[in-house]
Amino acid sequence: MSVDNEEIIVLGIESTAHTFGVGLATSKGKILANVNESYRPKEGGIHPRESAEYLSAVAPKVLFKAMEDAGITFREIHGVAVALGPGLGPCLRVGASIARALSIKFKIPLIPVNHGVAHIEIGRLTEKMFDPLVVYLSGGNTLIAAFSQERYRIFGETLDIAIGNCIDVFAREIGLGFPGGRAVDELASRGSRYVELPYVVKGQDLSFAGILTAALRLFREGRYPVEDIAYSFVETLYSMVAEVAERGLVHTGKRELLLVGGVARSPLLRKKLETISRDHNVKFRCVKPEFAGDNGAMIAYTGALALKAGVKTKVEESYIKPRWRVDEVDIPWFHMVRKMII
Ligand code: ATP
Ligand code: FE2
Repeated sequence: MSVDNEEIIVLGIESTAHTFGVGLATSKGKILANVNESYRPKEGGIHPRESAEYLSAVAPKVLFKAMEDAGITFREIHGVAVALGPGLGPCLRVGASIARALSIKFKIPLIPVNHGVAHIEIGRLTEKMFDPLVVYLSGGNTLIAAFSQERYRIFGETLDIAIGNCIDVFAREIGLGFPGGRAVDELASRGSRYVELPYVVKGQDLSFAGILTAALRLFREGRYPVEDIAYSFVETLYSMVAEVAERGLVHTGKRELLLVGGVARSPLLRKKLETISRDHNVKFRCVKPEFAGDNGAMIAYTGALALKAGVKTKVEESYIKPRWRVDEVDIPWFHMVRKMII
């Protein structure tokens, strides 16, 4: 691997919830490795401590596989980035401990990365969008965000549970396993009759808890085919997201719409956002599946941008931040990305 003087290589570690990921990326947007292993609970949702034990167990294998894929040695790395939040405390500590150890051992800077910001940055890079309105939907997050005055500002978010979590609980309760996003989508594509469910948009914010309760009640009553309930459920959720995204576009005047996070894998959701984008003559892109879910590459790449912009932390100050919001992070590298994608 040869890089010019200005280009730096960063190793990134993701361990915010169920995935232990290690990526290697350069500040010019080359992804050298992206290795990820995910914890799948046998039943129920994610238990933070059990997930953390899994992440620790797979960590060495994932780390060394990523180094092998990149074909470089630890001595060639300029910095180590880690997602310090938002996420589950016990899981965050696994990645943070390994990143601190690598930083000390190889005397390289430690770079704090916000997981949500990383989802946005990998989307901007791989979909070549410089200044989009971002719709970020995953198991733990529901955000509509856009860059303004040095940060990704929030133009809509959930008031209670995240959209992916809402879909996963529904899936689990109707017997589709975890995580159930894809299975619910498939079931929904076979339904056709809309059964009324609560539609809760308050200003620019969204609430999903009531819809989940109502959809599960319909399921237990058994009066409608489960395909129709799933169809009505996702139709309601995705229409709410589309409504807020559409107002976000009009309000911010952005000319690009970018969909990121695990729920971006849903074809039904993509279709809705494509429609509003067409109506407003806005370019629409959706992050590719390998970068949609949690992954190490997005942490490495964001870390490389951040290090280039001078962002780093002392090991003794590298606390995990389970509730770290996207709009708390300054983005001094925002304009650097233009060169890479145009
Ligand atoms: P974050 O930490 O950013 O909240 P996460 O831990 O939820 O992320 P992701 O891999 O980004 O992890 O997202 C997982 C979510 O994506 C799950 O809720 C899952 O059901 C959902 N999902 C996956 N595939 C699909 C699909 N085809 N349709 C809808 N949802 C999907
Ligand atoms: Fe994520």
